Amino acid sequence: MRPRQRREAFIIECGANYKEHFAWLQPCGNAFPHPLRLVSSADVPAIAIDECWEGMKRIFGENIWNNEAASAISLEIDGSLSREGYRAASDGAGGIRVSGADASGVIYGVFALLRELACGRCFYGANVESSPKVPLRIINHWDRTDGTIERGYAGDSLFFKDGGVSFDVARIVEYARLLASIGINAIVVNNVNVNGNDIRLISKEMIPEVAKLADIFRVYGIRLALSVHFESPVMLDCLPSADPLDENAISWWKRKCEEIYRFIPDFAGFLVKVDSEFRGGPQALGRSQAEGANMLARALQPFGGIVWWRCFIYNNLQDWRDSSIDRPKAPYELFKPQDGLFDSNVMLQVKNGPSDFQVREPNSPLLGAMKHTKECLELQITQEYTGHQIDLYSLASQWEEVFAFPSGSGRALSDLMGDEIASIAGVANVGLDDNWTGHTLAQANLYAFGRLAWNPRLSAKDVTEEWVKLTFGLDKKVNEALPDMILRSRKVYEKYNSPLGLGWMVNVAHHYGPSPEGYEFTKWGTYHRASCKAIGIDRTAKGTGFTRQYSAEIARMLEDARTCPEELLLYFHRLPYSFELKSGETLLQHIYDAHFEGVEDVEAMIELWRRLEKHIPKTAFASVSKRLEMQLENAKEWRDVINTYFFRMTGIPDKRRRKIYP
Ligand code: GCU
Repeated sequence: MRPRQRREAFIIECGANYKEHFAWLQPCGNAFPHPLRLVSSADVPAIAIDECWEGMKRIFGENIWNNEAASAISLEIDGSLSREGYRAASDGAGGIRVSGADASGVIYGVFALLRELACGRCFYGANVESSPKVPLRIINHWDRTDGTIERGYAGDSLFFKDGGVSFDVARIVEYARLLASIGINAIVVNNVNVNGNDIRLISKEMIPEVAKLADIFRVYGIRLALSVHFESPVMLDCLPSADPLDENAISWWKRKCEEIYRFIPDFAGFLVKVDSEFRGGPQALGRSQAEGANMLARALQPFGGIVWWRCFIYNNLQDWRDSSIDRPKAPYELFKPQDGLFDSNVMLQVKNGPSDFQVREPNSPLLGAMKHTKECLELQITQEYTGHQIDLYSLASQWEEVFAFPSGSGRALSDLMGDEIASIAGVANVGLDDNWTGHTLAQANLYAFGRLAWNPRLSAKDVTEEWVKLTFGLDKKVNEALPDMILRSRKVYEKYNSPLGLGWMVNVAHHYGPSPEGYEFTKWGTYHRASCKAIGIDRTAKGTGFTRQYSAEIARMLEDARTCPEELLLYFHRLPYSFELKSGETLLQHIYDAHFEGVEDVEAMIELWRRLEKHIPKTAFASVSKRLEMQLENAKEWRDVINTYFFRMTGIPDKRRRKIYP
């Protein structure tokens, strides 16, 4: 139950003390009715006490604490609560009691209380109780030891530089606090593509260095994990083979785990990418995925470690003329027959969509299909295909749809979370930039990831409104206008980037800006197959048969172009440009319209943002304004390139006679 609203008691003024790197833990001057004492039981971790102490000062000022005060905030452990859960309830004497199931639970409880207060919700009569739906909530960094970040758009790595571990302790502490405040409990610090020097992160020399990072995160209840190269025994110690059935390779990994746990006793485990995009793996050695994953799982098992085994495996050396191969089918075809063969400490890590983090995809049919194997949902917070943190893009809006996507038997994906899907991973969008995320408003995506990982049923609207309040304060104008602008941004981007589920019309390699045929004749298997007559891939039973990987009821809906969600029409169907949409417009006219509208929508966003100038801290206002101007250029380029492409391809003009050539 939410606490009663007593907004008038709080006058929060953010702005004066705003610092971009405080993100959603901003200081705000706020009048509080009476001072408090802080009391805690002996088993409460020191960090929960510190965060409570500092957090209350941040919100209400120094005078909030007074040892003589009649009322108190008391922190305690209450083992009757669900794992990592908390309760924050008023104690009936003007104070509040924060109880946590365990050390992490109290930390989360403190942050939840601070969130309630900073959002202007009063705690008189409060009773906020919560526990995470998903036990493992993990951030995946794609950072390299040379300091660069694969698909990173916010500066260099927080953890690495010049081939080694190198970090600013204060910055990592700040990062750990931000992550703990949204409920994250594990972190992979290096890229899934483990190459060159990155392979050495599990070497004898580097483990103690990595352990220093683990020491910082541990304080906040966050366990460290590493991406490893499957062929590490060969690459690090010149073993003849990495074969998972080879005794030497098996004992190498066992010894390696013993070594790691000596330095990092709560090491969370390994994240592994194999047999994909030029990586070796068990398949290349004639073994199954289960054999490969289990070898690592058995080495980690005595210490309580986990293997996150990625399912992003497909043939990236396709012949575009061969329409019998269909890339989205690959993960299910490979893994479904191995259901039940994986050890219990293996989590199959599945990207939300069957393609690759496109703006619009159906959910992967593998999610929820592995009835005897644990799974981890992988989301991408970094904006690879979604605007490089130049264009505004609300991932909360996208993920809300991912969680609502049907998973068979009348259940949505959110119903499987925490149950069949016991883990959730988000590819990080942060770097050394002062504001962490390049685009200040992209902080909202990291925030939303944590909040939705904790509870996938939260709405995008609620978490976005919350982020805006915590970051920019309770200014009415900002609170009313900004969440809406952020929430609509996903649809705006989709209009000019990928209408009707097309996807992939991006520039090759870096994936920003339009290139309608950039991927069309390559080996990556990401085709839209536009001709002068039709566009899209027939993935129905009559086509590639991809729809058959879904449960019967979902397949039925997708099979028919009339019942298939219109946003996914061209993902599942090959259709003539004259195909009539529900709006009555033809498919082609819709593409033209969407691209014109996309630009107009960005112009409207800029206008709206300008109107907020006096209400947003200067640094944030200036940097977001600059990015919005860049986004407008991008939207115009998409409009002109894509509309021109289709006009030339079809010869059919825009019925509204707008200018199509750039
Ligand atoms: C995408 C992305 C790569 C990444 C890969 C993965 O293809 O472009 O940079 O390595 O996904 O998730 O493994």
